[in-house]
This record gives sequence, structure tokens and C-alpha cells, in this order.
Amino acid sequence: MLASGMQELRRDPEWLACLTYKSVATASPRPGDIDLLVDRARARNRSLDVTGMLLFEDGCFFQTLEGPPDALTTLWSSIQRDDRHERIEVLSEHMTAARLFSDWNLLLGGRRDSIAQEAPALPPAVADHVARLVELALNADDEALNAQIASFADQGWTGDAILTVLIEPAARALGDAWLDDRCSELDLTIGISMLQLAGHAVRYSPSPRSIRDSRYRILLATAPGEQHMLGTTLLADQFLAAGWQVDLAFPESDEALTNQMTAQHPDAIDIGLSEAMPRHHALARLRGTVEHSRLIESGHPTVVSVGGRLFAEAAATALSVGADHARKGLAGTSVRLAELVRQSRKRPRGSKK
Ligand SMILES: Cc1cc2nc3c(=O)[nH]c(=O)nc-3n(C[C@H](O)[C@H](O)[C@H](O)COP(=O)(O)O)c2cc1C
Repeated sequence: MLASGMQELRRDPEWLACLTYKSVATASPRPGDIDLLVDRARARNRSLDVTGMLLFEDGCFFQTLEGPPDALTTLWSSIQRDDRHERIEVLSEHMTAARLFSDWNLLLGGRRDSIAQEAPALPPAVADHVARLVELALNADDEALNAQIASFADQGWTGDAILTVLIEPAARALGDAWLDDRCSELDLTIGISMLQLAGHAVRYSPSPRSIRDSRYRILLATAPGEQHMLGTTLLADQFLAAGWQVDLAFPESDEALTNQMTAQHPDAIDIGLSEAMPRHHALARLRGTVEHSRLIESGHPTVVSVGGRLFAEAAATALSVGADHARKGLAGTSVRLAELVRQSRKRPRGSKK
């Protein structure tokens, strides 16, 4: 797993892998089947230091797992082999420096099993704040979400308090929203990623101001020579809506692209091949472009993302062109890149990608 180009992060003991997938149960579980699965899973997850949640409703599973990369890889092999489910589809996988969940829990459709019983009721004012966070996460409004979280830091809340009292309950409430059909799986995935980002900011941003001001700059570029610019244009809308500062480039050469990078010092760059055509022949050239983009000297490293039909169809990976991230689709890219930017900033300057 973790096919994206984050092998260096993998080796850093501080980093956690985070995986979200959905699958379909092969048979209707008999009474007690799910409880048994959960009891065993919880024990194993605790021993592996894996946290997260599992949702089950209408014959479908939705699971988020987070933990040390090697432990997650082992667990993931078991889960993939398990014949109690099929049509497993990975919705997101990334590295993170902060956990979203303090334990591993199950939400059952129509029966809010362990969580509802274990979690103490939130005081009304806090419940309102949680509801607001959920609303912002579902609207993918990370600017407002960060502002809201920063306001708690302003009031003197500690990072741990914000995580336990607000962010974790908000993640569960998002799970409830999915179980009750109030949001789609995609909304849930993006919402969870946003909360994860917020949790990360709370833990690692030194001040409320830096949480609030976490506005990043991205250069959205077509690969040099690429005529199709649909992906780049659609991404511009997404990043603008998510509060990023966006610059566009349709360069003819690697030099033109690096000149623009040198002038703008973006936190991230996305280099897009055609979303329509496979462009196998363009991969070697794209690798050269990515290498060129790494030569830029700047105060902070630039996260390099790539995209296009080849990556959406998994014929190529980020690793194969030396990038940090490859888009499997357009949705959620701003959230994932924000996380990678935060991670890259935490690394000491001059350390290799
Ligand atoms: C949808 C689903 C989710 C699962 N989640 C976990 C889990 O989080 N942790 C776990 O240890 N096992 C989980 N399991 C069970 C594993 O697939 C596997 O049976 C168990 O870890 C034993 O592994 P082994 O068969 O390699 O010994 C899950 C199974 C299914 C069907």
C-alpha cells in the first residue's frame, strides 16, 4: 500500500499511515458476526497501535485506519484477504503526523453501538460547536473550519482538548451523517481528511494565528507540451473555493515552468497530463519535469503532485515519476495537498524529500 511517493516519510517513526476504504459484505452477517469481528479487530488493532473507525450499513463497510505504516501494511493485507467482504475500493491513503481517533471504534447503521454507549453526552454548547464543525467539513470549507478551530485556541483551549472534545466527536458525527444518508461517501472521506488536517494544525501550529492563516499557494500547471487543460482548470475552481492562492501555468518547456516557480515560490505544484488521453509516451518527459521542479531553491520545499488519465487509471504512480502525490481523481486534491504541505513544513529545512 501507500503507493504514492512518500517513502521517506514512511521511514520516519513519527509519521502515521492513514487509509480509508469501502467494501461490500459478501453475505448478510448473522447476529453476533459483526460483534465478533469487532471484538477481535479491536484487540488486534490495540496491539498494533492502530486507531480508526468502521462503519457498517446496508451491507457496506466503510473503514478508516491510522497507525504505524508497517503495522497498517500487515493489517491491510489481512483485511484485503478477508472473504467476508469484496469490491474493496481505497478512497484515500496518505501519511499524517496526527491521529484523528484516540481508539478504534465501530458505528453500526441504526445501532450506534459502542460509541454511543461509551462516549459521554456532550454539553449543549460543545455539541453546537461540533455540529458547526461537521457542517463546515461537509461543505469542504477548510478556511472557515480552521478559523473556527483557531477561535478555540484563542480562548485558551489546549490542542488535546480541541482534539478530544471537538474534532473526534465531529468525526463520529460525520460517520452518523453518512449512516443516515445525509452525506455521500465522498463527502465523508473529504470531511474526515479535513478534520485530520485541522487536528494536525492544532497540534503543530504554534499559535492560533498560524492556524487561521494557513493559506497555501499552489501553481497549477499543465505538463510542458500538454494541450489538454481541463484537469488544471477544474482544479483551479476547487483550490480557489478551498481558500488557496492559485496561479496557473501552461508552460512550453521545463525551464518556463521552473522560472514561474522561482518567481512565485508555491507551497505545492500540480503538473497535469491529459484527463482524456492516456499519454503513456509522456511519462518519461514528466519525470524530467518533476526532477527539474525539485531543483528550485526556496525557503521551503514544494510538494509536487501529478495527475491525468494515466494516474486516474492507476497505470502510473507518483513514485514512477518521482512526485509526492498522484491524483486518482480531482475531488479532494486540495485537502490532500494541504496535508502534504503541512507535513513538508514540519521537516527540517534542507532535508531530502
Ligand atoms: C470490513 C472488515 C474490516 C476489518 N477490520 C479489521 C481491523 O480493523 N482490525 C483487525 O485486526 N481485523 C479486521 N478485520 C478482520 C481481518 O480481515 C482479519 O480477519 C483479522 O485481522 C485476522 O487476520 P489473519 O486472517 O491475517 O490472521 C476486518 C474484516 C473485515 C471484513
